[in-house]
Amino acid sequence: MMLCGNGVLEELGVLDGINEVIATTEKNGVINAAPLGIIRDGESLYIKLFLGTHTYDNVLANGWFVANITHDSWIFAETALEDLTQDYFDRRDGLPILKDAEAWALFKCEPFPLDIVIAKVELVKGEVLRKDFRAFNRGANLVVEAAVAATRYLALRTDSYYEEIMKIKRIVERCGGPRDKEAMERLMDRIDNYCHI
Ligand SMILES: Cc1cc2nc3c(=O)[nH]c(=O)nc-3n(C[C@H](O)[C@H](O)[C@H](O)COP(=O)(O)O)c2cc1C
Repeated sequence: MMLCGNGVLEELGVLDGINEVIATTEKNGVINAAPLGIIRDGESLYIKLFLGTHTYDNVLANGWFVANITHDSWIFAETALEDLTQDYFDRRDGLPILKDAEAWALFKCEPFPLDIVIAKVELVKGEVLRKDFRAFNRGANLVVEAAVAATRYLALRTDSYYEEIMKIKRIVERCGGPRDKEAMERLMDRIDNYCHI
């Protein structure tokens, strides 16, 4: 069932605070996915976009993005540092979505001047595809934390981010499931590879 209007944000899983989603955007038919935080304060919704990313370019060009709601930390780690192949995506209503999304929501975003990277966004429509249910897992949450630290480490090369990632790695090895451990290993490999370039 298609859901429309701001009243359905809760139903789509977008609550007050920062909602970490996977944004899918498109350019010349090529779909891009990357983690993105949607900041919600009551009825107001914002995103902060870093310059120089595909997501930034595509949102600026098209004025929209799809927020994919997922609990899959592996996808967060993967899309933070790398592009996904096109077979991870599907189309609903012509829009690019992640095949594994629990829900998706189309947001419109007014094109913003190049020097302003905070933009107000508005929900257009969305759909709940399945409801996932699981116990809280510290490892899974920390994989997302490690992905944030990894993007910062690669951009800024500050040692404290690397130390944070190493600390997280130990907890993921203890608490995470196999997919979390794999995500962490792939993240570490990428950090090592990028650091040698
Ligand atoms: C959990 C998480 C949240 C993130 N939130 C944002 C965000 O709100 N805005 C942003 O510009 N980048 C954010 N990033 C970083 C981007 O995802 C990262 O720069 C990515 O490489 C951009 O990929 P792209 O070039 O395919 O768009 C986030 C990363 C993670 C792991």
